[in-house]
Amino acid sequence: MSLTVKDLTKSFQAPGGTVHALDHVSFHVDTGEFASIVGKSGSGKSTLLSLLGALDQPTSGEILVDYQDITSFTATKQTNYRSKKIGFVFQHYNLIPNLSALDNVMLALEFGGVPSRERRDKAAELLEEVGINTEEQRRKPSRLSGGQQQRVSIARALANHPAVILADEPTGNLDTETGQKIFDLLHNLSRSENTTIIAVTHDLDIAGKTDRTFRLQDGKLVKHK
Ligand SMILES: Nc1ncnc2c1ncn2[C@@H]1O[C@H](COP(=O)(O)OP(=O)(O)OP(=O)(O)O)[C@@H](O)[C@H]1O
Ligand SMILES: [Mg+2]
Repeated sequence: MSLTVKDLTKSFQAPGGTVHALDHVSFHVDTGEFASIVGKSGSGKSTLLSLLGALDQPTSGEILVDYQDITSFTATKQTNYRSKKIGFVFQHYNLIPNLSALDNVMLALEFGGVPSRERRDKAAELLEEVGINTEEQRRKPSRLSGGQQQRVSIARALANHPAVILADEPTGNLDTETGQKIFDLLHNLSRSENTTIIAVTHDLDIAGKTDRTFRLQDGKLVKHK
């Protein structure tokens, strides 16, 4: 799926006044492109991803997904778009604390309509792919390291073959080697399945290897590559 953002603005009312988290941002990402977003803390990166994933409504502007404006979708249609098209890797993982790693991924498969008899093997396979072994798969998130939780959340995002992956610092908590593996996994998806990927990163080496880099500064897009 392609994504086109036109004049996207998101403001928040905060005690100190209005915060312009995104300020008239426009760009286009083609189907199967791997784009990275860089920028300082507070520059609007997570805000942009949540708008692209229809987790929040913009103050103004358009988000065209395959040329349909998702901001004008009904709530039901937005939920459908999120669950069928988007794989989201949250900055803080958002795993369900009382479910094991395996059950977290199985639940995503259930939401995606995968028949119950197939879920266990599929979830285990996805977790193996991101380097979570059988014993770790049985643990709850609180008994996994930050990097392991991050990889579980990546496995969960990949579960239903989303057309678009929105990843908020997917390698932020990983050592260089593991980070590179996850990057390669995402890169392969964009090439083999034409998955569109937008990933926030602080790692300029990783950003440099993506098809395109966007830089946000105080809510404005300042540089295209
Ligand atoms: N719900 C909210 N209410 C008020 N202000 C908010 C809200 N969410 C975000 N902001 C503000 O919007 C700006 C952008 O926040 P955002 O989370 O998008 O930054 P970020 O680039 O993801 O930062 P980081 O690298 O630290 O994760 C910040 O100034 C933040 O304080
Ligand atoms: Mg953020």
